[in-house]
Amino acid sequence: MNQTLQAVIFDLDGVITDTAEYHFQAWKAIAEELNIPFTREFNEHLKGVSRIDSLKLLLGQANPPRAYSAAEMDELADRKNKLYVELIAGITPADLLPGIDVFLSELREAGIKTGIASASKNAPAVLRSLGVTSRFDTVVDVTRLKNNKPDPEIFVTAAASLGVEPGACIGVEDAVSGIDAIKAAGMFAVAIGSGSQFPKADAVLPSTAELNYRELAQRFAETRR
Ligand code: BG6
Ligand code: MG
Repeated sequence: MNQTLQAVIFDLDGVITDTAEYHFQAWKAIAEELNIPFTREFNEHLKGVSRIDSLKLLLGQANPPRAYSAAEMDELADRKNKLYVELIAGITPADLLPGIDVFLSELREAGIKTGIASASKNAPAVLRSLGVTSRFDTVVDVTRLKNNKPDPEIFVTAAASLGVEPGACIGVEDAVSGIDAIKAAGMFAVAIGSGSQFPKADAVLPSTAELNYRELAQRFAETRR
């Protein structure tokens, strides 16, 4: 195949900045109010999942089960988002995760395109607060998509708007649903987290501090020969 690396497409929450923690805190507040148990382990299933689908998963944990009307669900989802928006209000460029600033510079220097494939409607605001909007060549508009991760649509859309084949891209994710989406798109998948969590990833790094252009480009090339 001999395809060279042309683009790196990033998830946002938990990859560029630690907003995954704020999503957790906001959902935990809603869960406590509803008397639904909410653990960090369960929260892993919500990563990469849209707001309304996350709420459905959370309400599915209620014991005894209880039915919610569409209006009640909308109100809960809105309230979670308000809590989340309050939590992200203080984000500054200092909240970039370790290694991200340098990695983005390495990619720019090497002429590799960059994109954001986040399920979050708050992504553009978070990128602005971090001061990194101009460092990405595309930010997928999630409101225009039909399918959520693990469907590949968001990664395929990012590659198309960069004018690059999915097979020439690396995707970076901290969620299992995100790694599944990257693999379904035909990209090289880099997971941030622990190896046992991500059996399908092509590379697993314990932290964003380990992101290194030369090493990843080499590993990418080995799989594309
Ligand atoms: C993803 C997060 O990036 O965005 C999920 O991993 C979140 O936890 C989803 O539910 C949607 O985000 P938002 O900001 O539109 O509610
Ligand atoms: Mg994420």
